[in-house]
Amino acid sequence: MRTKRGIRFKASELEAGRTYLWRKEFLPLLYKYLELKPRQIVVDVGSGTGSLTRLLANGIKFQGKVIGIERNRRLLSVAKKLSNKQRIPRKLVSYKVGKAESLPLPSNFADRVVCQMVLWLVKDRKRVVSEMLRVCKPGGLVGAIDLVLENVAYYYPQNQRLTELRKKWHEALVKGYAQIYGSDRNIGYKLPTLFKEQGLERVRLDAYAYVWSDSDDRIPFDFRLKSYQRYVRDFDTKQEKRRRKEEERILYAGGMTRSEIKEFYELGLQNDKRIVENPKLLDQTTSMNGGIFYIATGIKP
Ligand SMILES: C[S@@+](CC[C@H](N)C(=O)[O-])C[C@H]1O[C@@H](n2cnc3c(N)ncnc32)[C@H](O)[C@@H]1O
Repeated sequence: MRTKRGIRFKASELEAGRTYLWRKEFLPLLYKYLELKPRQIVVDVGSGTGSLTRLLANGIKFQGKVIGIERNRRLLSVAKKLSNKQRIPRKLVSYKVGKAESLPLPSNFADRVVCQMVLWLVKDRKRVVSEMLRVCKPGGLVGAIDLVLENVAYYYPQNQRLTELRKKWHEALVKGYAQIYGSDRNIGYKLPTLFKEQGLERVRLDAYAYVWSDSDDRIPFDFRLKSYQRYVRDFDTKQEKRRRKEEERILYAGGMTRSEIKEFYELGLQNDKRIVENPKLLDQTTSMNGGIFYIATGIKP
C-alpha cells in the first residue's frame, strides 16, 4: 500500500515472514559472508521489525553494538518491543529513526553497514549505497541482501492455474513497481554492479537459497497454520481491501488483466480457506515457495 511516504509494511507479516528465513543451519554462512566478529559496530539500514538486527547481534556474539535505522516509527517501536522481550541490552542493540538516504550517523563510524530487502524499494539506490559507504569505516564492509523476485517459485500441486497466476503475479509486480515507484524488485544479482559503481572494492556475491514448504515438520504446526488463518481472517478488512487495491494498481500497470487479478485473489482465498477449514490438510499438502537471497559485500577503500 502506498502512503505519502511510500509503501506500507505490516509489522506482523514482516516479522512472520522473517522468522524462518535465516534458519539456524544457514546462519554461520550469513556471519561468514558479512565477516562478523565480536566487538564490531554494525548498522542495519531499514531494520523494520529488527529481525536481521537481532541476528547481527548474535553474529557479533553479543559483544559490540548493533544499530537499526528505520524511517517508520511504527515498525521501529515493534523492533524495540521485540528486543526488550528477548532481554537484549539496549547498549548492544538500539534503534534510531532515520532515512537510508541520509543516515543519522557520523562518517567512518561502523565496521559493518548492511541492509536486507531495502535496496529493491528505494528509488535512489546509488544515494543509499553511498550513504552506507560514508558511515562505514575505511577497511570496513558494506553488505546488502536482496531477491530477484522474478525467480521466486510458488507451486500449488493441487491447483495448476493458481501456480500459473502466481508466476504472472511476480512478473507483473516487477514491472509495476518499476513503473509506479521506480523500484527494482529484481535487484539481487545487480548488487555488485551498484557496489562497484559506488567505489566499493573486493566486491563479492554470495547466495542463500530459502524454501518454505507448507508441510515442513521442523516448523511448528501452529505457526504454519497462522499465516493461512491471518489471510482468511483479514481478507475483508478495510485495511486489507486497501492494500489489495493498491496492489491491483501495480499488477495492472505491470501487465496483468483485471480478470486475472480477480481470479488470482479468488483462487488464493479458496486455497487458504480449504486449509483453515480442515487444518489436517496442512501436513499433507506439498505446496511450497522458494527463491534465492543474494548477498553482496564490498570493502570501503
Ligand atoms: C521489506 S522491509 C525489510 C525490513 C528488514 N530489513 C527485514 O529484512 O526484515 C523494508 C524496510 O525498509 C524500510 N525503508 C524503506 N525505505 C526506507 C528509507 N528510505 N529509509 C529508511 N528505511 C526505509 C521500510 O520502512 C521497511 O521497514
